[in-house]
Amino acid sequence: MDETYHERTGEGQVLEQLRQLKDTALSELQGLSSMEALDKWRVAYLGRKGSLTVLLRSIGQLPTEDRPAAGREANQVKLLLELEHREKAEGLEREASLQVLAEDRIDVTLPGRPAELGYLHISTQILREIYDIFAEMGFQVYEAPEVETDVNNFQLLNIPPYHPARDMWSTFYTTRKGVLLRTHTSPGQIRVMREFHPENIRVILPGKCYRYEAITARSECMFHQVEGLAVGRRVTMGDLKGVFTNFARKLFHADRKLRFRCSYFPFTEPSVEIDVDCIICGGNGCRICRYTGWVEISGAGMVHPQVLRNGGYDPELYSGFAFGMGPERIAMLKYGIDDIRHFFSNDLRFLQQFA
Ligand code: FA5
Repeated sequence: MDETYHERTGEGQVLEQLRQLKDTALSELQGLSSMEALDKWRVAYLGRKGSLTVLLRSIGQLPTEDRPAAGREANQVKLLLELEHREKAEGLEREASLQVLAEDRIDVTLPGRPAELGYLHISTQILREIYDIFAEMGFQVYEAPEVETDVNNFQLLNIPPYHPARDMWSTFYTTRKGVLLRTHTSPGQIRVMREFHPENIRVILPGKCYRYEAITARSECMFHQVEGLAVGRRVTMGDLKGVFTNFARKLFHADRKLRFRCSYFPFTEPSVEIDVDCIICGGNGCRICRYTGWVEISGAGMVHPQVLRNGGYDPELYSGFAFGMGPERIAMLKYGIDDIRHFFSNDLRFLQQFA
């Protein structure tokens, strides 16, 4: 075979292959619609083992005179494919971000979703009502700790370790000797007396109390109490009756019946228990009032002289009354709730009724 013919044929073949490769690559490129397909295309033509790269390498085997023209053409095809690849990639990216924008578009004309608002727990609501009524009568709120010493919870309230009255308050003790969960808010009385001068003390002490006792429709092992304490030079049992009656009439209703019943607490003398006629059965008798027609809402009495002394006051000069009531029991009466266990069982169907 003639040498010139051979060479021309070799160069011609490569140029023809390049042209075909370019046409196929560009028409394939046009039809691509994803970045993934575009990447496969790049590997197939421009990758290390891609068809253009292989063709470029084969130019080295052409006769020397044919190499420049074939090399030039091959480089141009390479540059063209790289340029087209870049443009296609940019186009696809643009399309993708436009699609994201279209999908994520916010319709500002849509009505908003109403935010769900929380509300106060029924115990908190009744506590706040109690604060307001006592505030009108000049009582301030004083907060005392829930974890107390045996000394404050019992001993300074006239209940020494051997005293049978301890049975009235079944106690949760901590692992630390002499430290317990307060069984009532009365130890706060000692704290107030030791902190303030005895003239004109009027405080209420709200908070949680704990008792190691069976949970029933009217008794919880954790419940609130609101203690009241008034001390001054001439505070009498009449003041206690007046303050509590005023309180009960404001909280319930003016025609609510109250009963002051003789009782016993080691830290008051005399002592009473205050009952309200049962709203649930109208006084006829039900399990809440234990079929008596009355529900006890508070213990009370005149502060025992020894307790005044323990608080640092002179019982010859000062006297005081105290009471301790259960806001959950009060809420049960006010709203006709027949089971105290609803308060802390976290059933929203119950709680939302007081929203
Ligand atoms: C006392 O705890 C006395 N510290 C009250 C007191 C204070 C008397 C000051 C004198 C002077 P009592 O154990 O009765 O007393 O409880 C007082 C009130 O707390 C009760 O009338 C009741 O309303 C509420 N209460 C008591 N135990 C529970 C319980 N387990 N669950 C819910 N409420 C309770």
